[in-house]
Amino acid sequence: MGYTLKKFASECHEILAADPGVDGREKLRDLLKRVLVDSTFVAENFSESNDAPRSILYEDDKLGFAICSHVYKREAMSKPHAHGAHWAIYGQVAGQTEMFDYEFVDAPATDDDSGTCRATRSYVLKPGDAHLYNVGDLHAPRREGATKLVRVEGMNLDKIKRVYHEEVKADAAD
Ligand SMILES: [Fe+2]
Repeated sequence: MGYTLKKFASECHEILAADPGVDGREKLRDLLKRVLVDSTFVAENFSESNDAPRSILYEDDKLGFAICSHVYKREAMSKPHAHGAHWAIYGQVAGQTEMFDYEFVDAPATDDDSGTCRATRSYVLKPGDAHLYNVGDLHAPRREGATKLVRVEGMNLDKIKRVYHEEVKADAAD
């Protein structure tokens, strides 16, 4: 189809300007799924020289959303987290991400505190897959090898305080 970053960003803006709510984000996820496997987009934004764990490809002046590339070289496991008062869409370009969703066992008193949570399910994101994490959705990605992702964030998450939570295993969380 030939999606440049500019064209993708422009369509993201149109979608979110028309509907910044959950329905708009779902539309944006559907668009992202097409872009993840678009050879023009991948060649433009994942050249050999892009080996950065996080790059802001585009940040929207008016609406505040950000499009990021992520190039991870090795395995890693994140701790459970949400993204403050913001949403994010994870899209897989290369490799696989095993995603875990969580629910609070002991919710924190404020958004700045850590709580405890347990996993409710896991699933694998493969190239072309994209998943929306709405405000407050707890999740943690695990990768066993090199991966590449595009994420669209409701706001550049570099600007918010990150809070991570402790996982308790199901049989220890009566
Ligand atoms: Fe996240």
